[in-house]
Amino acid sequence: MNVGIDKMNFFVPPYYVDMTDLAIARDVDPNKFLIGIGQEQMAVSPKSQDIVTFAANAAKQLLTPEDLAAIDMVIVGTETSIDESKASAVVLHRLLGVQPFARSFEIKEACYGATAGVQLAKSHVRANPDSKVLVIASDIARYGLNSGGEPTQGAGAVAMLISRDPRILVLEEQNAMLTQDIYDFWRPVGHQYPLVDGPLSNATYIDSFQKVWKHYQAKYQRSLADFDALAFHIPYTKMGKKALLSILETESESEQARMLASYEESIVYSRKVGNLYTGSLYLGLISLLENSNTLAAGSRIGLFSYGSGAVSEFFSGTLVEGYEAFLAKEDHQMLLNNRHKLSIDEYEAMFNDALDIDTAATFEDALPFSITAIEGTIRTYRQ
Ligand code: CAA
Repeated sequence: MNVGIDKMNFFVPPYYVDMTDLAIARDVDPNKFLIGIGQEQMAVSPKSQDIVTFAANAAKQLLTPEDLAAIDMVIVGTETSIDESKASAVVLHRLLGVQPFARSFEIKEACYGATAGVQLAKSHVRANPDSKVLVIASDIARYGLNSGGEPTQGAGAVAMLISRDPRILVLEEQNAMLTQDIYDFWRPVGHQYPLVDGPLSNATYIDSFQKVWKHYQAKYQRSLADFDALAFHIPYTKMGKKALLSILETESESEQARMLASYEESIVYSRKVGNLYTGSLYLGLISLLENSNTLAAGSRIGLFSYGSGAVSEFFSGTLVEGYEAFLAKEDHQMLLNNRHKLSIDEYEAMFNDALDIDTAATFEDALPFSITAIEGTIRTYRQ
């Protein structure tokens, strides 16, 4: 039985800053952000939006009444939880109108969480072929104003429906996983921003990729030639490229050109939104599918998932005949093009205007799903 991604969609908040503006404000050469980091724009989230509203906005348009009746598991992968106890998936389950006899929970392991969700969903559907599982990656990447990580912030969600006979990507059985207890990026309970050792995080990402790729190759006797493209976790677009380049040294010129061209197709959206944390790999996959000139039914895509701390996985999938009909390139371009550009002053004001859940408040926001009020620490969402 084939199991995989039947539908997928992303959502980002309707505000961004231009990276040239940010570089000038921070007294940095713009080419450091545009070329060195590889980012053009960065998504910014207002306080009336959170991981639940991103997730609901990403998922709502995917789900038919038949899907809502068949979904029996809602999984949110996030490292931006809004509660230490209650899972955002429970709120999402209600907002989306999923039938009641379902499991709803969150998974945390930095940017790897959603991949754990996808793998769990795959096993669940294998055991229960009539089930569908909604997996959502939703995060707000924040390092602080004027911090080293500031140009690698971002926000948004990717929603995926996992089912049998998927219409986009069949997930293959071959996986290589790796766990290494490393403090490259972490956020102790109570800390507003993550603590990050930037150089170590870059090095651990590359080292993890090399290790899982080597393990995968040895385990399944596959080489780069068996893949039509690779998709990476993209904390900033230069990161995945560095990892890719590290395995291309021994490849022919044409092979290098082939893999680098598809890498460029996978970062079109990330260049404009920045880091989605758990969603970044899957945003890269959507970008690849919607911008590739070479992929076709049957093409095999390798996916590298990385969560600091550090857990990584290399896995793969093959494209289904007719997958193009289940993409939404025009909608996604419109979502990105219709965002409002913030001046640096506006961005800093929005960044500092954090949600205070201990003070009752009401909010106006035009999005289909947004926070309308805070009362007694509880968020009320517009449906
Ligand atoms: N023109 C062109 N390039 C320039 C330049 C210029 N004028 N000035 C600098 N650069 C280049 C540098 O040469 C460098 O390129 P290489 O890495 O290829 O050598 C690049 O710009 C970045 O320069 P620095 O290394 O000096 O940048 P930095 O010290 O400001 O830190 C960072 C960059 C480590 C990514 C930092 O932004 C950070 O800590 N970000 C958060 C952590 C992160 O994203 N880590 C990635 C791996 S961890 C992960 O993947 C999980 C996750 O999602 C967080």
